[in-house]
Amino acid sequence: MTIRNLDDLLAEGVSGRRVLVRADLNVPLDKQTGKITDDGRIRAVLPTLTALTGAGAKVVVFSHLGRPKGAPDPQFSLRPVAARLGELLGAQVRFAEDTVGESARSTVDALADGEVALLENLRFNSGETSKDEAERGAFADQLAALGEAYVDDAFGAVHRKHASVFDVPARLPHVAGRLVLREVEVLAKLTGEPERPYVVVLGGSKVSDKLAVIEALLPKVDRLLIGGGMCFTFLKAQGHEVGTSLLEEEMVETCRGLLERADGKIVLPVDVVAADAFAPDAAHDTVRADAIPSHRLGLDIGPETVAGFAAALADAKTIFWNGPMGVFEMAAFANGTRGVAEAITKADAFSVVGGGDSAAAVRALGLDESSFGHISTGGGASLEYLEGKTLPGIAALED
Ligand code: 3PG
Ligand code: MG
Repeated sequence: MTIRNLDDLLAEGVSGRRVLVRADLNVPLDKQTGKITDDGRIRAVLPTLTALTGAGAKVVVFSHLGRPKGAPDPQFSLRPVAARLGELLGAQVRFAEDTVGESARSTVDALADGEVALLENLRFNSGETSKDEAERGAFADQLAALGEAYVDDAFGAVHRKHASVFDVPARLPHVAGRLVLREVEVLAKLTGEPERPYVVVLGGSKVSDKLAVIEALLPKVDRLLIGGGMCFTFLKAQGHEVGTSLLEEEMVETCRGLLERADGKIVLPVDVVAADAFAPDAAHDTVRADAIPSHRLGLDIGPETVAGFAAALADAKTIFWNGPMGVFEMAAFANGTRGVAEAITKADAFSVVGGGDSAAAVRALGLDESSFGHISTGGGASLEYLEGKTLPGIAALED
């Protein structure tokens, strides 16, 4: 099985050809203002886009944004993304008001060599995410008709069996873009023979989302540090009361089993920051992880835990981090995430930050992105890769 990449396509010559680029421009938007709060995913596809425009291609970009229900929904319009993409490219980006309709066709027809168009949100069409092969296929036919070659640079969406990710490449010559290539190379290092100690830090809210990756990683890692909302289900499994903290009651037994099988590799918080309410100004204190008051909820890991996690990361040679350690969007509960992120940058290790939220946290906390080995644009996608699952978007590129 081989996957051709952008250089192979460029070598064939793309001048004057319409090249479709599936990007993951699913960026976080401010709920009140609708403004883009983190443009990391837009910046991440620039190398592929500029390589194509530089070679004279007519570049047609498409993406999803959020989870609209198969019909147009203005709050999920990609229009603001087109504006930001234009700023970053330093060139006009033509925006089509639909994905495969009249606006898309005329926008693509109007493209001059070296120009870029962005189509409206793929998920405004029910065919994009349909489980029905025929419905997805019909939509993919329309998408494929817009171009002559297909580049997948949407790493964040390669785990989705969607028309634009899975079915369009079956209809056109297809290659992996620069971002997809780099992401896969990096993750392959982690699944191959990572240099040891290999330490993984997992956070985020739900154990159920991370269960498969924990199972897959346990035999491979030297240490697995667990913080974030998901740590409370583990603390409960250890027999501690967790107050009103996030808890997945139905996962407690599973977590107990994992702890038993983990051979001491799983490290849990010893202290947490517990608050009266889920609010930026809520009264809060640091408490022992086995003494969370019944009326309080843990919103961050405590300072002693940060120190312990930092010590566990200090001699690491390979690090993978996915998921914030606390509610980092609120200053009072950001210290855990910041402390762990800083410890990762201090280690003399190859470090990979996986995922939308942790990547956004790195930037929101003003940390130096270049002090990490790689910041992935894919949360779910990188986890599923590490689980060893077949990713539909990658499989579709194989020949
Ligand atoms: C993401 O943000 O996780 C990717 O863009 C995929 O989006 P989805 O989870 O809505 O499919
Ligand atoms: Mg997701």
